Amino acid sequence: MHTTEPFTTDQPLLARLPVAAGAVRLRALRTDDVDDFLAYRSDPEVARYQGWQPMDRDSALVFLHDAAPSPWRLGDWAQIGIARAEDDRLLGDIGLLREGPAQVQLGFSLARSAQGRGWAHTAVRACIDRLLVPLGMTRLRGITDVRNAASLRLLSRLGFLHASREDVVFRGETCTEVTLERCL
Ligand SMILES: CC(C)(COP(=O)(O)OP(=O)(O)OC[C@H]1O[C@@H](n2cnc3c(N)ncnc32)[C@H](O)[C@@H]1OP(=O)(O)O)[C@@H](O)C(=O)NCCC(=O)NCCS
Repeated sequence: MHTTEPFTTDQPLLARLPVAAGAVRLRALRTDDVDDFLAYRSDPEVARYQGWQPMDRDSALVFLHDAAPSPWRLGDWAQIGIARAEDDRLLGDIGLLREGPAQVQLGFSLARSAQGRGWAHTAVRACIDRLLVPLGMTRLRGITDVRNAASLRLLSRLGFLHASREDVVFRGETCTEVTLERCL
């Protein structure tokens, strides 16, 4: 049984960081992550299915500084970092959109060099178990392009189930978005 608490603290996610999770750790994003952050966010393979706008260094510094808004209101994205445990270098991030009092949409990105090792799975599972469950979240959603096989596999391994699919226009191209959900 999990202990829950009201979702009212100003920085409910940051207050629980860092979280150790095997080869990775979850921690707050920092402005000194800017080079690693820009490196993976600028990789076309990592950005392919993401709705990001291209970011210059100054925008990235602002983004990193404001990554976890306080308070975390409905409609706000909060981003937390995935760092390599051995040297704390930033490998990726997890985005958490507060969609309702107990509902969060998750997104995740990992540098290509860190993929294929189970590290995204370890990081997102720790985020769910150690951050979202204790905060009383009961409904999680992931939305991904149907062609994004790695993302679908990850969500499925985390226990998310297909809920719906929708044809959308993304970057001028018609594609299908799949929504997966997990109830806690
Ligand atoms: C989505 C994304 C984070 C998944 O990363 P990932 O590294 O493939 O995910 P996992 O951590 O679950 O790793 C799984 C892979 O590691 C392999 N692996 C190797 N060692 C492993 C281990 N010890 N434990 C678990 N898996 C291991 C698995 O076999 C699996 O490979 P496969 O997918 O070829 O079968 C990554 O593809 C990414 O950043 N994509 C770009 C951004 C994006 O599109 N995000 C989703 C939109 S929200």
